[in-house]
Amino acid sequence: MVATRVPSHDMNEVPVLGSYILDRIGNTPLIVFRRLLPHNSRVRIFAKAEWFNPGGSVKDRAALQIILDAERRGDLTPGKVLIDSSSGNTGIAYAMIGAARGIPIELVMPASVSEERKLIAAAFGAKVIYSDPYEGSDGAIRLVREIVAAQPERYYYADQYSNPSNWLAHYRTTGPEIWRQTMGQVTHIVAGLGTSGTIMGAGRYLQGRNAKVRVIGVQPDDALHGIEGLKHMESAIVPAIYDERRLNAKLLVSTEEAFDMARRIAREEGIFTGQSAGAAFAAALRLADSLDEGTIVVIFPDSGDKYLTTSLWQKQDWSI
Ligand SMILES: Cc1ncc(COP(=O)(O)O)c(C=O)c1O
Repeated sequence: MVATRVPSHDMNEVPVLGSYILDRIGNTPLIVFRRLLPHNSRVRIFAKAEWFNPGGSVKDRAALQIILDAERRGDLTPGKVLIDSSSGNTGIAYAMIGAARGIPIELVMPASVSEERKLIAAAFGAKVIYSDPYEGSDGAIRLVREIVAAQPERYYYADQYSNPSNWLAHYRTTGPEIWRQTMGQVTHIVAGLGTSGTIMGAGRYLQGRNAKVRVIGVQPDDALHGIEGLKHMESAIVPAIYDERRLNAKLLVSTEEAFDMARRIAREEGIFTGQSAGAAFAAALRLADSLDEGTIVVIFPDSGDKYLTTSLWQKQDWSI
């Protein structure tokens, strides 16, 4: 007979036999690099490998915290549909957790998100609604607001861009993990800015442990960019949870640089990431060149397999 227990999401509890899928969220590995190294050997760079989460991305953390907090407050009651806009990864995370906990999920995604993301969200049983591809993630935000306004009693609108549970997830898990895994030696955290939940939460935690830790946000250098998951803040609907004053610096990366770096990480390190990890790593290498010494942790939000049908991997004539 298989021994079971009611899953609690309490990281301190160890299941007797087997593990519940949602208990595998968090505690992702920190990866070292062997070949793609900074010029200065006194600067170390580690990648936080977020595709090890069961939904395949960093967004599992935020989605789980958002859902558990909404249930606890009584905002997400049985029968209500959780709805949100997502450029893909949060949608997949909601869909996976919704399937595991029996919560109906509706997602509004720009029609331009990769085919893989649409199919994975649908595979978990979520209803996917597409917004104008030319309006990007902001178009998805506008459409979800219209849908909720038309039927407010039907929905719990999770609103990852304004929901404090989003950054709290990283304050409670990603930040402490990085502190533990670097034995308190981390000097810089580098992460792409989407909702900004990752950098706001993990950055706040790490600065609470050591005020000298520098918090670096990475964003596309242009409003018309192809780095899925990231926002060009100057031209976008700015997330309510984003507080630029919490960043010590913001680094800009072009789409081309992000793509090239993701390809180099695959070919030179054997690590298959998405383009937002490429963007963050390109920024981290640049940052490393400006330091005498340091321990940089870069967030790698997801893996390359969600972009197989996109120009990230389809293009054959890479010049790297
Ligand atoms: C691929 C990818 N990279 C980076 C991010 C940014 O993370 P955050 O929303 O915590 O800023 C996201 C968010 O959706 C993402 O999907």
